[in-house]
Amino acid sequence: MDNTSTSEQAPIVSSPPPTDDIPVALRVTPQETSKSSMNTVVVAGSLSALAIVALVSGVLFSFRMQQVQDAAIATASPAPVEPAPAPSASPATDVLLGHFAYAEAPRSELVAITDDGSIKLRKSAAKAYREMAAAALRDGVVLVPISGFRTTADQKHLYFDVKAERGQDAQERAKVSAPPGYSEHHTGYALDIGDGNVPATNLSVNFEKTEAFRWLQANAAYYSFEMSFPKGNKQGVSYEPWHWRFAGDINSLKTFYKAREDQKPSASSEP
Ligand code: DAL
Ligand code: ZN
Repeated sequence: MDNTSTSEQAPIVSSPPPTDDIPVALRVTPQETSKSSMNTVVVAGSLSALAIVALVSGVLFSFRMQQVQDAAIATASPAPVEPAPAPSASPATDVLLGHFAYAEAPRSELVAITDDGSIKLRKSAAKAYREMAAAALRDGVVLVPISGFRTTADQKHLYFDVKAERGQDAQERAKVSAPPGYSEHHTGYALDIGDGNVPATNLSVNFEKTEAFRWLQANAAYYSFEMSFPKGNKQGVSYEPWHWRFAGDINSLKTFYKAREDQKPSASSEP
C-alpha cells in the first residue's frame, strides 16, 4: 500500500461555506469594530468639547449679561440724592430800629372812616372802628381819628423830614416815628385816635388822661382793637396811648403776630 500518494493527496477538506448566511448589514469585522470605536471616541470627545465650550460660553454669556444689566440699572437709576439739608431757622425777621417791616395795604381794601374821605382803614378794621366810635358816642365819648393808612412816601416825610427839622438822630426819631416801610400805618389796620373834647392832647402822652383813652382801655378789646405801644413795650418804641391797631381777623393777626413769633429764639439757638 502506497500511503505516499495518499499522503501526497491533499485531504479533501470542505471549506467553510462563505458567510453568506449572516446578513451583510450585521457583519462586523474586527477592523470595522476598531474603526467604529475610534469614531465613537472621536464623537464623544467632540461632544464633550462642544459641551465644555457651550458651558464656558454660557457662563461667559451670563456674566456678560449681568454686566450689561448692571450697567443698564446704573444708567437708569437716578443720581444719588444728596441728603436734604436740615431745615433752616425761619428767615430773620426784618426789624429796623425796633420797628417791623410792613407792606402797604392794597388800595382796593381801603375805605374811608371820615366824612371827607381823608382817613382810611382796611374794610374789616374800618367796620370795627365805626361800631366802636358809635358805642363810645353813646357813652358820651367822642373818638376822633387823626391818622389811618399811610404810604411809605408819607412815612418817609414823617421820619426823615421831621427828623432833620428837629435835629434828631436815627434812634431818637425811631422812638416816636417808624422808618418808611416799617410803620403799622402801612397795613391799614392801625390808627391814631384823639378825644374830640380835648384836641390839645392829640398825639401827646396826655391823651392817657382823657375820657376817650379810659373808654378805649375798657372797651377797645370788644372791637378787636389793642394798643400797639404800651409803656415799656419790647420794641423800645415810646409809649403811644393814641396808637391802636385792629387784630380781629386772620390777616391782621398774622400781620402783627407772625413776625414776632419768628423772632422767638428756637430750641437750637445758641444761648
Ligand atoms: N408812631 C408810630 C411808631 C409810627 O410811626 O408808625
Ligand atoms: Zn400811629
